[in-house]
Amino acid sequence: MLQMDYLSINEKGRLSMKGHDLIDISEKFGTPIYIMNEKSIRNSCKKFVNAINKYYDSKGLVLFASKSLNCKEICKIINEENMGIDVVSGGELYTAIKANFPMSKVHFHGNNKTPEELHLAINSGVGRIVVDNEEELKMLNNIAQDKNKICNILLRIKPGVDAHTHEFIKTGRVDSKFGITMKEGITLLENIQRFKNINFMGFHCHIGSQILDSRPFILAASIMVEFISKVKSKTGLSTQELNLGGGFGIQYTENDKYLDYDKCIKEVSIEIKEKCEDLKLNIPYMYIEPGRSIVGSAGITLYKIGNIKKIPGIRTYVAIDGSMADNPRHIMYGSEYTVINASKANIKPNKLVTIAGKCCESGDIISEDVLLADPEVDDIIAILCTGAYNYSMASNYNRTLKPPILMINKNKLKTIVKRQSLEDLISLDI
Ligand SMILES: Cc1ncc(COP(=O)(O)O)c(C=O)c1O
Repeated sequence: MLQMDYLSINEKGRLSMKGHDLIDISEKFGTPIYIMNEKSIRNSCKKFVNAINKYYDSKGLVLFASKSLNCKEICKIINEENMGIDVVSGGELYTAIKANFPMSKVHFHGNNKTPEELHLAINSGVGRIVVDNEEELKMLNNIAQDKNKICNILLRIKPGVDAHTHEFIKTGRVDSKFGITMKEGITLLENIQRFKNINFMGFHCHIGSQILDSRPFILAASIMVEFISKVKSKTGLSTQELNLGGGFGIQYTENDKYLDYDKCIKEVSIEIKEKCEDLKLNIPYMYIEPGRSIVGSAGITLYKIGNIKKIPGIRTYVAIDGSMADNPRHIMYGSEYTVINASKANIKPNKLVTIAGKCCESGDIISEDVLLADPEVDDIIAILCTGAYNYSMASNYNRTLKPPILMINKNKLKTIVKRQSLEDLISLDI
């Protein structure tokens, strides 16, 4: 079963979220619309935070990977859940600043940070800059020197772990634009003292996304601890911190395996502790960066059906009022979703259809070959598990408007991101 206990079917046979009829919501707020369940976000945060406290003796911090969903309200929730945030651009950083997020708990990533972004990061006092390469280290050192500041850094390393996932979202292998190899890392650290305004704290790695198996995480942790030992023997440097990145998968459909985050963190913690004991190393402070696993299952998107095209013997297209512009994951990764006819949630799904977006692209498909209950024009359909990498990846392609985000918390409905207007769309045109 998908982990979405906040959805149910009400007495009208419609889908509802925590007692709120989703058809009523679609009429009041319009479609397309992203809807998030606050309790579900908070529960996922607690799962990771509790696991680190329980199995890693509270010597770690969970950072929310804000690339998965970033807006001021999410930053506020993450802060209230005693987590940090990782950002990958000046824009994500600026959002955290404007949300009054404690900057000491922000890690700044990116494989090609601009000087402007590094200025903003240093000026705002981010906790760690995750340095991607030697060029960046030089630039950061120069900027920090001009400002008379010392930057605490982690070095991004490719642990070479090939987590089984979609080709485009693998980032931990040697053939990756992110980070440097272990060999390059050692060479860089042999001369780290020439960077006078840099304080080396440790390493970062990230092995991929939507991983539904704890073994690649354990393997990466093991490789990184061995690497820490090698760094110590070759350079004399001790590593205080280890950031293992994110990538904890969620169940998009019933075919996806279930990853038990608590068990996964437990196994990773045991691996690090045992390996450190064997290699006579101090146990590093641990960071993890879950994104999808915090917000993915906490969100759904509602769309309205505009027309239905039956192509005899081939397929039936159900056209919705959204598109690849608000959900580009299918066209990018071939991602699959669970789709429900929210207007007829009490009817067993019985028609095989393909959900098509309204963009001027044949590939603009949201979900291919899914079963939907008696779809008709004006029905509201819900695409589940769209809390991560939907709003954050949304574009204005074809000059479509970005949908709003509505947060549901018990009896409260709160718009946390407004719907874009046509005037917003042209506001930067000259
Ligand atoms: C460096 C880094 N950290 C964290 C994440 C978050 O990954 P996920 O949302 O799969 O947990 C990503 C995503 O690709 C990433 O590149």
